Amino acid sequence: MTGFADRTILISAAADGLGLAMATRFAAEGGTVVALDKSTEAIDRARALPEAASIRFEAVDLMEGAAIAATIDRLTSEGLRFDTLINNAGGSLHTPRAFLEESDEDWDRVMGLNVTAAVRLTRAVLPQMMDQGFGRIINLGSKAGRYGSLFTGANYVAAKGAVQSMTLQLAQEFGPHGITCNAVCPGAILTPRVERLLSERMTQTERDAALAQIPVRRNGQVEDVAAAVAFFASREAGFITGQMLDVNGGQGMCS
Ligand SMILES: NC(=O)c1ccc[n+]([C@@H]2O[C@H](COP(=O)([O-])OP(=O)(O)OC[C@H]3O[C@@H](n4cnc5c(N)ncnc54)[C@H](O)[C@@H]3O)[C@@H](O)[C@H]2O)c1
Repeated sequence: MTGFADRTILISAAADGLGLAMATRFAAEGGTVVALDKSTEAIDRARALPEAASIRFEAVDLMEGAAIAATIDRLTSEGLRFDTLINNAGGSLHTPRAFLEESDEDWDRVMGLNVTAAVRLTRAVLPQMMDQGFGRIINLGSKAGRYGSLFTGANYVAAKGAVQSMTLQLAQEFGPHGITCNAVCPGAILTPRVERLLSERMTQTERDAALAQIPVRRNGQVEDVAAAVAFFASREAGFITGQMLDVNGGQGMCS
C-alpha cells in the first residue's frame, strides 16, 4: 500500500497505544512519519519493532509549550513540511472519576495534554499546511466527550468535548486553505493501560454489561482507530470536514 507515499505526518504521543498503531499504519502505506512522545522507554520499545523501522521518534514532553515549539522548529529547519497532523496526545491521566475528588491540578493536567498540546501543535504546523494549500488535521476525541464516560471523570469528558468543538471551528476557519479537520472518537480500546483502568474502576459484572451494550459485541482494537484516522487523512476524504466519527462498535447509540 502506498496511499501516503507523498505525505509527511506528525503524530503526538505515538510511541505506544493508539498513536503507535496510527504511526505504523501510515508507515506501512509509505508515509514519512514523525512520532512525538515523552517516554524514552516507550520510544526504545517502539523502535525495536520491525513495522516501526521507518518512523522517526522524537522525545518531547507535550505539556511543555517551549519544547513543542523547539521540536517543530528543528524538524522544519531540517526540511520537513507537515501536511498531516494527528493530535493524539491525551487521556484521563489516572485522575479520579468522582467530580468532587478532582483537584484543580487534575483539571489542569488533563486539559493541558488533551487540549493545550493540540492547540500548540496545530498552531505550529498550520502555517506549513497553508503554504502547501493542503492539510489534514485529525483530533482524538472520545466516546467520553460525546456521551460521558463509564470510568473517567468530568475533566476528561470536558477536555474531549473541547477538542471536538475546536475541530468544528478549525474546519470552518481553515477549509478555504485546503485543510480539513475532523475528529475520531473511540470507545474503550483495550490497550494495556485501559485494561488496567477498567479492571480498577469497574467490576467484572459492570464490564460484561458494558460489553453487552456494544452492538458488535466486542471491544475496540488500536487498528480500528488507526483505520478511521487513515480514512480522514486520505485525499479521498477531502470533501469531509468538521465531522466526529464514532469508533465504538455502536456503543454510543446504546449508553
Ligand atoms: N485507549 C482508549 O480506550 C481511548 C478511548 C478514547 C479516546 N482515546 C484517546 O486516544 C488518545 C491515545 O490514547 P492511548 O490510550 O493510546 O494513550 P496512552 O495513555 O496509551 O499514551 C500513549 C502515549 O502517550 C505518551 N504521553 C503521555 N504523556 C505525554 C506527554 N506529556 N508528552 C508526550 N507524550 C506523552 C505516553 O508516553 C504513551 O507512549 C488519547 O487522546 C486518548 O484520550 C483513547
